[in-house]
Amino acid sequence: MSSNGSGTTAADRVFPEGFLWGSATAAHQVEGNNQNNDWWAAEQAGRLPHQSGLACDHFRRYGDDFALLAELGQTSHRLSLEWSRIEPRPGELSFEALDHYRRVLESLRAHGLEPIVTLHHFSNPIWLAEQGGWTRREIVGRFARYARRVVREYRDLVRYWVTLNEPGVYASQGWIVGVWPPHRANDLRGAFTVLRNMALAHGRAYHAMKAEQPDAKIGVAHHWRLFDPADPARRGDRLIAAIRNRLMNLAFPIAIRNGRLIPPLGSGGLIPWLANTEDWVGLNYYTREHDRFDPRAARIGFGLEQFPDVERNQLGWEIYPKGLERALVAASPGNGREVLVTENGIPEPDDQDAKRPRYLVQHLAACHRALEAGVNLRGYTYWTSMDNFEWAEGFEPKFGLVHVDFETQARTPKPSAYLYRDIIRQNGLSADLLARHDA
Ligand code: GAL
Repeated sequence: MSSNGSGTTAADRVFPEGFLWGSATAAHQVEGNNQNNDWWAAEQAGRLPHQSGLACDHFRRYGDDFALLAELGQTSHRLSLEWSRIEPRPGELSFEALDHYRRVLESLRAHGLEPIVTLHHFSNPIWLAEQGGWTRREIVGRFARYARRVVREYRDLVRYWVTLNEPGVYASQGWIVGVWPPHRANDLRGAFTVLRNMALAHGRAYHAMKAEQPDAKIGVAHHWRLFDPADPARRGDRLIAAIRNRLMNLAFPIAIRNGRLIPPLGSGGLIPWLANTEDWVGLNYYTREHDRFDPRAARIGFGLEQFPDVERNQLGWEIYPKGLERALVAASPGNGREVLVTENGIPEPDDQDAKRPRYLVQHLAACHRALEAGVNLRGYTYWTSMDNFEWAEGFEPKFGLVHVDFETQARTPKPSAYLYRDIIRQNGLSADLLARHDA
């Protein structure tokens, strides 16, 4: 343990100067009353088990929320813009919505929070969904048009842009698992079309955005999951883990880095204008899977199996901090390319904050090890700023650093929010803290 002489412990694992310490949200999960998107429509039609309703009423309370995050020491904030508010009808922009998000972004800046702005985080304007959404090739031009317009509007306020959040999760939940709009189950072809269109839309948007803001830093928030063989000694298990890794983790980044559409995005064709369309790498990391080869199982997971004795979170996902280090190293293209953790967090039931402090310290220790391994990690964004609408799971899994009372909308920081603040103040982790949390 080291002391800086002022009574507080100095960090032993120090993060780079200017490291962005933040937390994330997404529009549909926090804003409330997003009545013009496909999620809302599906909720109203009874196709989803929960309704987002007023959510965190963040649409009106953003100023107070940002003030709280700043008080909690945070220096950046990831949020998404709601496309359905900005473009309520095809080609028609809402100046009211554009003004609103200008105030939101100005408020972030006023509170010293560096904005990390996502253009698409799962929800779509109803008109777009009705026209076939991401399954139609037209989405490529439509998304680029929206992206260009938004960048033109806010280029004075935003440096870090995320075009898309977790393309693989979006395609799989909507077209394979079928639990999210548009609720197509086992439609592999649909899922692959969506993924390909997302890669192409990202590429088109990239160039359109750069035309408006040449120094924009444009990336994607990739969902990165670890895939390990259930039994490393079994060839079949190793093979399945490797295939799933390629499909879920590697194919999309390869498309936007090398311009190659490998399966499941395509059959290897080269799209030159898609290459080098990632200025920085966003990484959302939650868990790992253990894969077992079972030829009798026709599912895409081939008898996916989880070790029974691993520590899991409330949603059953393995808690595996080392995976964040491995993911960062694997996802980083090297060459000094900036990498940011764009999501990482843990849900707990009710008002609990029992596992989160340890989770946070252990995952930040993993980030530090990735830095030491040469990853140019520039920021860490905890998921999520405050308890919110967790998609098909509703309001029960609570990932927030700040507790939200959904009756009164009162916000109460959890102990882990203060722990995070202390880490941010030190810009690192003390040996004492690491020892206390077995990190
Ligand atoms: C991510 C998603 C977030 C949040 C989180 C926790 O996949 O981007 O919106 O829901 O998972 O489940």
